[in-house]
Amino acid sequence: MLPLIIDTDPGVDDAFGLALAAAGAKVDLRLVTTTYGNVPGERTAGNALRVLEMCGCAELPVARGADGPLAGHSLRAAEYVHGRDGLGGQAGRMPLRARPVEPRPAVEVLAGTLLASDEPVTVVALGPLTNVATLLAEHPEAAGRIGRLVVMGGGFRGGNVTASAEFNIWCDPEAARRVIVRSDLAVTLVPLDLTHRAGVSEEWMAALVATGAVGEGLSRIAAGNWAMYERMLGERRLIIHDLVAVAEAVWPGILRPERVWVDVEDGHGPARGATLADRRRYRQGPREGREIDVAADFDAADLHERILARFGDR
Ligand code: RIB
Ligand code: CA
Repeated sequence: MLPLIIDTDPGVDDAFGLALAAAGAKVDLRLVTTTYGNVPGERTAGNALRVLEMCGCAELPVARGADGPLAGHSLRAAEYVHGRDGLGGQAGRMPLRARPVEPRPAVEVLAGTLLASDEPVTVVALGPLTNVATLLAEHPEAAGRIGRLVVMGGGFRGGNVTASAEFNIWCDPEAARRVIVRSDLAVTLVPLDLTHRAGVSEEWMAALVATGAVGEGLSRIAAGNWAMYERMLGERRLIIHDLVAVAEAVWPGILRPERVWVDVEDGHGPARGATLADRRRYRQGPREGREIDVAADFDAADLHERILARFGDR
């Protein structure tokens, strides 16, 4: 089975991604590390425990990571999307798991888990890349055990938290540039350009609820997002960014990645946190950035059906 680690800022869509990895025991989910992002770090850590309790993952280690970006700047949580509690107002009715957060910080637990693995590990980053950048700096030998890093992040035709930046990249552009551009990690970026096309219908959500308690719990967590996305998209569809990114990790290639030269704007102008794609077929002089995989396309029916089937495997 595919060894997997998830770094996350739960987060409504993070909850779906965590549950997909935990559902059906078809991947070897070894560790969940948490980061600030959608809501502050003390809440994302507790939310990971709540979601894993809902999924029946009583003993999966959870380690708390960064509470802010590498280079301090003002944080803006995404409570307008995820609710003050980070789980669509449902955290209060979701019991914490008996096993608490690990006593050691996330980057140390992440390094130990990677070094203990006898095969390369796929890491999925669903939040700001601060923890991954810190691992690269403090435990390069452990980072070398990452076989693939799937990142939900970026937007090449504009952003969501600002006109040009997607939230995860915008939270810590310095970390994002170190991970995506300056490292030699095998990165697959899953950008808004892709996730915005992969929204689910109310019928799909009803089918997810029919798979059982986890699906029903996820539906409750996401209930408050339908109206927002209807205003954004002009139709009742729910965009679940992190679910799509985890699907690429669970079924490699399902999002048909393409090789693209990508850079990240870590300056302090209006484009801070933007991801830039250099698709020029002819150019003079050196290229900025690095060539990585970028998720480009998918078969919506296949993707949505596979996810439902996995939840039905319980
Ligand atoms: O921009 C969407 C991403 O930012 C998702 O991962 C969401 O959970 C937030 O972390
Ligand atoms: Ca997230």
